[in-house]
Amino acid sequence: MLAIIGGTGLTQLDNLEITRRQIVRTPYGEPSQPLLFGEIEGREVIFLARHGNGHTIPPHQVNYRANISALHLQGVTEIAAVATVGGIHPDLAPGSIVMPHQIIDYTHGRKSTFFDGIDLPVKHIDFTDPYCAIMRSNWQQAAHSIDETIINHGVYAATQGPRLETAAEINRLERDGATIVGMTGMPEAALARELGISYAAICPVANQAAGRGKSLHGIQYEDVIENLNQTMVRVRNIIGALVKLNGLCKINTHKK
Ligand code: HPA
Repeated sequence: MLAIIGGTGLTQLDNLEITRRQIVRTPYGEPSQPLLFGEIEGREVIFLARHGNGHTIPPHQVNYRANISALHLQGVTEIAAVATVGGIHPDLAPGSIVMPHQIIDYTHGRKSTFFDGIDLPVKHIDFTDPYCAIMRSNWQQAAHSIDETIINHGVYAATQGPRLETAAEINRLERDGATIVGMTGMPEAALARELGISYAAICPVANQAAGRGKSLHGIQYEDVIENLNQTMVRVRNIIGALVKLNGLCKINTHKK
């Protein structure tokens, strides 16, 4: 079963016909909201808004373990995630949709593993390629099928938030090789890998990162939301195409 995790700007899916809401309890607590079961294009999917229904949970307080565990308990084998970002690379203007292939994790203090030696014995998963190649190819095919463009490469810098970055921090992230910056990409991707769930994210660019281009002297969060509203219409269409495709070729692996 496919699940969609939506982030800032995507707390609901207009094209989802909800059939039931289910409160799920996990050994790690409750997920951000009751899971929404429904159909898109006649196919069953589960939707989960990462920040909760009213976007009330900040990135550093999302219970990522409960979210991923709850989906796993419902038999989810694939997660298509949407995570809003700022563009660091000059080519990644607001309105671009980037599908990162790599991650650099700058977050701290988040519960980032199921294998913490308490619930489960310590385990070191392979995370060389943090996103599932097959799920990335599905996203790409879905976009292609509706004449949408997803930029196929990106290095996602996961920052702690909830504040936006300083200009100097963005310079540092760029020197590290990051091309986009967001606050929720980790530990979500790693937790999905730990449970063998196929996971890939697409990242709508909402703003230029701090100190860059239009954000040279600051980022107005209202502008960020306005940009997102427009891009999310396209994201919803890509999700519709993805679900349709997912029904056609059954994929169930996290392998590369
Ligand atoms: N930085 C971090 N996270 C973000 C940004 C940003 O500039 N824009 C949207 N999410």
